[in-house]
Amino acid sequence: MKKVALALAALLGFAGTAAAQDYPQRPVTMVVPFAAGGPTDVVARIVAEHMSRTLGQQIVIENVAGAGGTTGITRAGQSAPDGYTIMMGHMGTHGAAPALYPNLKYDPAKDFAPIGLAAGTPIIIVAKKDFPAKDLKEFMAYVKANEAKMNMAHAGVGSVSHTVGVLLNSQLGIKPAMVAYRGTGPALNDLMANTVDYMADQIVNVAPQISAGTIKAFAIATPERSPALPDLPTTKEAGMPDYQVSAWNAIFAPKATPAPIVAKLNDALVKALDDDNTRKRLLELGGVIPDKAGRTPEALQKLVEAEVARWTPILKAAGAVAQ
Ligand code: MLT
Repeated sequence: MKKVALALAALLGFAGTAAAQDYPQRPVTMVVPFAAGGPTDVVARIVAEHMSRTLGQQIVIENVAGAGGTTGITRAGQSAPDGYTIMMGHMGTHGAAPALYPNLKYDPAKDFAPIGLAAGTPIIIVAKKDFPAKDLKEFMAYVKANEAKMNMAHAGVGSVSHTVGVLLNSQLGIKPAMVAYRGTGPALNDLMANTVDYMADQIVNVAPQISAGTIKAFAIATPERSPALPDLPTTKEAGMPDYQVSAWNAIFAPKATPAPIVAKLNDALVKALDDDNTRKRLLELGGVIPDKAGRTPEALQKLVEAEVARWTPILKAAGAVAQ
């Protein structure tokens, strides 16, 4: 019996290796768990374009929004582990979500095959153009004095914008109305239309509108200014030194995806991040490109574990989690 089992295992292993050698034979779906046009979608489309060239097959973006990104991630994580469905997750779906969803249908650190980090995305405090504040100090004073009529946009409980928004409001000591969108792409449209007051969002989404002057930006929540927005002060310079927060976007596959396929996907991502045009597009949006050591599946696994551990107490302290 044991000989049969060994032979079967060898046969299956050989079949897996053969499949990996021929992979990909058809287009690959990359699930983006938010509406088109938001930061997750933007990073996904930029890196997927060059990855498609390396793989020799089109990576097709599928936007599956809902529940702060957890709907799309749950679905993608449960798809066949054959390399033909991957996903763009981030600090929300694979960091904050476990603290915010007690019945989350996945464990970010156990239920996926990490492929690699695509981009770091610093957080910026932005507001509608008509917001009556010219700098962060005036913003802070205004939202405190007008808390009852303030509304903050976000992309659903567990999203990056919700997570960093909860932290911002906790530090400001306010509880504005929280307006959920299927992504911060649609949220930005309402900010530009002056129908929502403010949000904390990833730089790759808001940088073009800040440069165009169609929305206000008060500060970036990183220790250093962004080369993409050199005139935007840091939160430390502008009066909220404790608000230090940045997000990241990363590619994952279903847990049992064969290692040779994971390696091919990681290779395609690494080549994309070394491509001049891909780098230019990410950098001009304020994205932070991971260094070589930061691009491995192992580095992403460690990041996910660290982020889940980091965000749970922060969100509990901010009152965002049922105690
Ligand atoms: C978020 O977590 O806020 C999302 O990244 C928003 C989006 O990509 O639309």
